[in-house]
Amino acid sequence: MIKIAILGLGTVGTGVARVVADNARQIERKLGEPLQVKSVLVRRFKDGPYRQLMTDDFSRIENDPEIRVVVETIGGVEAAYEYTKRALEAGKHVVTANKQLVAEKGAELLALAARKKVHYLFEASVGGGIPVLHPIRECLAANRIEEIYGILNGTTNYILTRMVRTGAFFTDALREAQAKGYAEADPTADVQGIDAGRKTCILADLAFGHEVPPEKVPMEGITKLSLRDVKIAERAGYRIKLLGRTVRMPGGGCTAYVAPHLIPEEHPMANVEDVFNAVAVRGNATGEVMFYGKGAGELPTASACVSDVMEALTTSASREEPLWSADGEGFVDPDELHTRFYFRIEGSLTDAAMAFGQVEVLSEDGETAFLTERISGTDARQQSAMLNVLACMRVMN
Ligand code: HSE
Repeated sequence: MIKIAILGLGTVGTGVARVVADNARQIERKLGEPLQVKSVLVRRFKDGPYRQLMTDDFSRIENDPEIRVVVETIGGVEAAYEYTKRALEAGKHVVTANKQLVAEKGAELLALAARKKVHYLFEASVGGGIPVLHPIRECLAANRIEEIYGILNGTTNYILTRMVRTGAFFTDALREAQAKGYAEADPTADVQGIDAGRKTCILADLAFGHEVPPEKVPMEGITKLSLRDVKIAERAGYRIKLLGRTVRMPGGGCTAYVAPHLIPEEHPMANVEDVFNAVAVRGNATGEVMFYGKGAGELPTASACVSDVMEALTTSASREEPLWSADGEGFVDPDELHTRFYFRIEGSLTDAAMAFGQVEVLSEDGETAFLTERISGTDARQQSAMLNVLACMRVMN
């Protein structure tokens, strides 16, 4: 019998316990032994099926030689960071869905895990149940990664879909996403693009080998997005999606950011709806590869966690080098990235043309909505300085 502990019994922690119980036979067949949750760390004891396993004292887990893997589903940094370090120091593998902790402290925790010859695995931290990080590390390992972009937050994609399809109000759609267990404990991290930003940092860390600190990455969510722009975009053959994006820059280093984008309706990502996420990885040998599936929710996220538990138990952790270094080198401001831009201005086509030269008009009725040629973020800002800008977004194509 192999014993594990779960830290936290929220949506993901409960899902992990359920997957271990519901899929016990498949898991046992693959591990050669049954897998059992021995302890669950909670702050407050609650009645329910896991009552007998609960403890509020982490040292009982830390000092229990039977527990080989700790699944951290507390979220946030403080307690999760401390317990993760203590578990790794105690020679236990740690598995997590905690994107904030991996984005902020991943390099340090990976180095500690490598020193202790144990695993620190976090497939569930990006894309929920979709395998993304393992394919980047393993199946695409022979490539030079040029770019990764995607719909990385299920809550905001759910809200956008509900608003566009049924005209739901933002707050109602958010409440539904919370009720379905998609949103973070504090949903401002979802709607302000911070959750997608943390996932973008992890993708950038893995793809480019240097820590991309979240505080350097501009993150914009959907709170300022107007339904008017959604409608103008739709009439012109585009959808608006919140994308996280990291790109290898021609002059060296990489950039990363999160923002709403216009996507042409024929692009596969334009039709990714509800809680689904999609991640596109462009390698120099493969070209673009896309991953698609449920990016949030109890069982999809738990599926990735339990698979990591099984990997930790069945593969050697002999790797000496962490997956990325903590130096934070080589980050380039995304303003240097060239794309087309969408603008809606209070003004005429003449105003738009005076600022940007050649533009493609999408709508003109007192306000003017238009697309620029490919320009840098810096040029977009400088050339629009004299305009009354009501909305501005990058175009993905
Ligand atoms: N709040 C996150 C989302 C959960 O909505 O995508 C999965 O990371």
